[in-house]
Amino acid sequence: MSDPSPAPVSMETLVALCKRRGFIFQSSEIYGGINGFFDFGPLGAELKKNIRDCWWNDMVRRRDDIVGIESSIIMHPKVWEASGHVSGFTDPLVDCKVSKQRYRADQLFFAEVVVDGATLGYVSALEVEDTGAALQEAAEALKRKKAVKGRLEPVRPRDMTEARPEEVALIPSPATGEPGSLTPPRSFNMMFQTNVGAMTDASSVAYLRPETAQGMFADFKAVVDTGRVKLPFGIAQIGRSFRNEITPRNFIFRSREFEQMEMEYFIHEDADWAKCHREWINWCRDWLISIGLPESHLSEYDHPREKLAFYSRGTTDIMFRYPFGVQELWGIAARGNYDLKQHEKHSGVPQAIFDEETKRKITPHVIEPAVGVDRIFLALLCAGYAEEDVKDEKGAVEKRTVLRLSPRIAPVKVAVFPLLKNKPELVARADALYRRLKRRYAVFYDESGAIGRRYRRQDEIGTPWCATIDFETIEKDGTFTLRERDSMHQRRIGEAELFALLEEKVY
Ligand code: GAP
Repeated sequence: MSDPSPAPVSMETLVALCKRRGFIFQSSEIYGGINGFFDFGPLGAELKKNIRDCWWNDMVRRRDDIVGIESSIIMHPKVWEASGHVSGFTDPLVDCKVSKQRYRADQLFFAEVVVDGATLGYVSALEVEDTGAALQEAAEALKRKKAVKGRLEPVRPRDMTEARPEEVALIPSPATGEPGSLTPPRSFNMMFQTNVGAMTDASSVAYLRPETAQGMFADFKAVVDTGRVKLPFGIAQIGRSFRNEITPRNFIFRSREFEQMEMEYFIHEDADWAKCHREWINWCRDWLISIGLPESHLSEYDHPREKLAFYSRGTTDIMFRYPFGVQELWGIAARGNYDLKQHEKHSGVPQAIFDEETKRKITPHVIEPAVGVDRIFLALLCAGYAEEDVKDEKGAVEKRTVLRLSPRIAPVKVAVFPLLKNKPELVARADALYRRLKRRYAVFYDESGAIGRRYRRQDEIGTPWCATIDFETIEKDGTFTLRERDSMHQRRIGEAELFALLEEKVY
């Protein structure tokens, strides 16, 4: 994808495109939908599969040091005790007793409104890109409403986790605008609970996994004993994870069911973990660029030391500039050997392995790059979407919507058109090409409407190439027109050349 990057697109525009063209639907829409769950339509399912396949090929198949697994979604509940999720996988929750709305305390901001040194009251706002500006505006409105003269001090935004007990009752609920209805923050465990077997009691409680990572730790010894791996090596997995997010939002950015691609890279306990961590950050960044994300949209965020879990040595997030702000796309954490040690303690099964070099038993440390398929999906749409003024065949200016997706990721690789649908010889030839391509690639056949309109339909879903079979194809050398999505350039090309192009670009 070309840099400098395209102008930002609004989320409304993207959501509308996803619905109109069958990328993403609200889950159970015919029943009014269910918040935080999404379905992927025909194009969305292809695009998602391409993200997964690219990651799996690059992360697992094309490397010698990483193996892949698929662990179960429901695991022994002790896994989640050992990992710390039962006691600690919580978000701070605030309720509004009047509206019954629930908020994540760290996303609900407030500020004291001070005029000439005296407190006038409090204002609140849900986190937006510039929450400070929203609170300042609310403070000015409160001053006007109370008809108070004097100098309004600049607001100092804090979130609800920082509210003093005596302040909670004074902070207005964002739902009602009135103070008195918000509760103090309390911890809410985000794991979905279920019961295994016919009995529904404490002994049957289990959880839908909130991350795929614990599958790799719980299977560590099994992989070591069977997988012919030696340090350093990684275990990777792609799969669904579930989190009962208090406020799912920003479309598929934060949902309650999503897909993760995680890899645990095990290194010697004496290895230079910081170097390895940096190498993986670079690998992840390069990989995102290889699937078409513009470098200009990516940045890094190092978690401050004081906010890290006690066992963590460092976490860096690769951030992406979404239309709703710069947000975490991929987290790369150096986790020490905390997880293996915890599983050793809780299961009683030793997790140390014999190190041939030092001739002693060690418990490897781990670097963990963890990313969500859905967040990559959304990033690709945000960066790839563009609206352009172009000229049609008659020279008139028209708008085209184009999704500039990399050929690796595009849900349809080639669209095949016969120039005219009422010419059987063109249709037969186009159909034959379509069927040959279809054995290897996701392709689309379209014979309805003017060629220009057919191009536009493909541009909108990101198809990199359109092949048009015309009279020259039949009467001359078998070549056809290949039209390129981004440049809209057309050239004549033969079938072998098209297959060679696809082989090079779709990998
Ligand atoms: N094992 C570590 C782990 O799960 P995380 O930061 O909680 O770390 C990793 O999640 C990645 O999973 C995130 O960077 C994000 O891409 C994705 N992710 C997390 N929660 C998500 C949600 N509610 N919806 C969509 N993607 C999510």
